[in-house]
Amino acid sequence: MKKIVSLSSLAVFISLFVSCTSSNNKDAKLQTPVTTGTEETQTQNQSPAEAKSKTIADLQDAFKGESTASAKYADYSKKAEQEGYHNIALLFKAASMAEHIHANNHKSVLKEYGAEVPVVTPEYTVNSTKENLQDAINGESYEVATMYPEFLQDAGNSKSQLAQISFNYAFEVEKKHKVMYEKALAALSDNKVNELPQVYYVCPTCGNTYDQTPPERCGISMTSSEKFIKISSL
Ligand SMILES: [Fe+2]
Ligand SMILES: [Fe+2]
Repeated sequence: MKKIVSLSSLAVFISLFVSCTSSNNKDAKLQTPVTTGTEETQTQNQSPAEAKSKTIADLQDAFKGESTASAKYADYSKKAEQEGYHNIALLFKAASMAEHIHANNHKSVLKEYGAEVPVVTPEYTVNSTKENLQDAINGESYEVATMYPEFLQDAGNSKSQLAQISFNYAFEVEKKHKVMYEKALAALSDNKVNELPQVYYVCPTCGNTYDQTPPERCGISMTSSEKFIKISSL
């Protein structure tokens, strides 16, 4: 597996973040997350130290979740191959790599903040590929609808820019994973697994996952696609 993004790379992301937002680039998704009217009320009752410790707890939870997802998808990939669903095995492998990148980004931010990186013992069950796909859809849906929106708001409250970037990278990528898994489950139900993509590209910076030839630069982190990890075999 390729070397995962380092802390120094995250520093580069900040400058990208600033340049993206200031240049009004419509393709880049590194914008500051949308805030809501409830935020002001929350910050009024929360000291800066409390806000920061909430963000650190969020990073630790996200690190656990992403580490578990990465391990789980790697095993789901093996199971799919055993069941003869090679193209679904490739999707699980690509997603596993992406989750590993998210976990490492979160870990880098925890270290930057001088916080503890939790020891993770992944716990999950491998079932049939059909059930595994549904489990993956459920997990991605939770992250997209609940977990990352809350964590992004907390990171905004505590003005933790690195955490915002790391959460935003994962949030944007999980949306794509959810759609890919839904398509795979539909193909499995329709007996059309052989029509699913057979090549994936993963951005080493943010885990962005493409199931077709990627653009010149990652649509989330603007990383050159020359650096993307190509996945076409197990
Ligand atoms: Fe992830
Ligand atoms: Fe994901």
